[in-house]
Amino acid sequence: MNNKPSSRNTLNDLNGKEWIYNTNSIESFETEEWEREFNKFVIELIETRYSTKGKESFAHHIRKSHPTPKPPQLMERLIRFFSKKGELVFDPFMGVGGTLLASSMAERNCIGIDLSEKYINIYKEANQYLELEEQKTIIGDARDLDKNKLLEDKIFDLIVTDPPYGNMMNRIKTGHAARTKKSNQPTPFSTIEGDIGNLEINEFLIELKEITEKAVKKLRNKRYLIVFTKDFQPKPDYDGMLHSDIVKALSKINGLLFKGMKIWFDKSMNLFPYGYPYAYVGNQLHQYILIFRKEEKN
Ligand SMILES: C[S@@+](CC[C@H](N)C(=O)[O-])C[C@H]1O[C@@H](n2cnc3c(N)ncnc32)[C@H](O)[C@@H]1O
Repeated sequence: MNNKPSSRNTLNDLNGKEWIYNTNSIESFETEEWEREFNKFVIELIETRYSTKGKESFAHHIRKSHPTPKPPQLMERLIRFFSKKGELVFDPFMGVGGTLLASSMAERNCIGIDLSEKYINIYKEANQYLELEEQKTIIGDARDLDKNKLLEDKIFDLIVTDPPYGNMMNRIKTGHAARTKKSNQPTPFSTIEGDIGNLEINEFLIELKEITEKAVKKLRNKRYLIVFTKDFQPKPDYDGMLHSDIVKALSKINGLLFKGMKIWFDKSMNLFPYGYPYAYVGNQLHQYILIFRKEEKN
């Protein structure tokens, strides 16, 4: 891709670099005086460029065997805001343990569940490397969390979780994504039976709601549930707004109220020339951090 506009570009006069810059899902504008004065922002934007190398990366070289590990530094920030020292955090989709590492860093206790023993072992390896206190882990299906003996008498002070993204990770890649992958095969989180990441969107939302309902029963009243998610590329049969669908699905849980969201702009992600030079295809560099509160009437 050079700096001259492509002769194949029928849409605008931009060169390749300018094109991909304009597909960034976040535009940053200077804050206007009146906005500062009236504290107008309802959505907080968290911008990060966490290192993926060396000490600063919090064992990224170990955790990167998972397709979407969450940075412990970001999770720590949330955990420190939404809980107190010594309290109990829960993550029913722990992966390689972004939430668990962060809980140890913030001196909280944590219990994590994942279907995959491999991911839990990677968490343990990263934890040992970072010389942190090991948190409790359960290899199992989050759909059975209400039957688990280890959770029987537990009350969570905070739930922080990053569920699979419907079957987003499983879709056969096309265009640039396909050309840059070694194979055009789907890359699911796992092929383990029970992985809700292998479900079609509507079934996924039903399962996610049921698991969340079970977890929220064990959440202290007036405490928070934090859910990470992404959107899909829009398709003719689905607008792709997974974050909005998750808010609608989880808002059906009795006593659980949606309180707003933060947007995480991961500046360490690369821009790809999807759609270039024919059509607009957004680069999604952000994720949604959805905030819910349990407000049960006594
Ligand atoms: C988006 S990843 C979580 C990544 C994690 N935040 C981290 O820092 O590594 C979602 C995880 O959910 C797990 N998962 C999917 N279905 C599950 C189920 N029914 N019960 C428990 N875990 C499940 C997958 O194995 C995957 O690791």
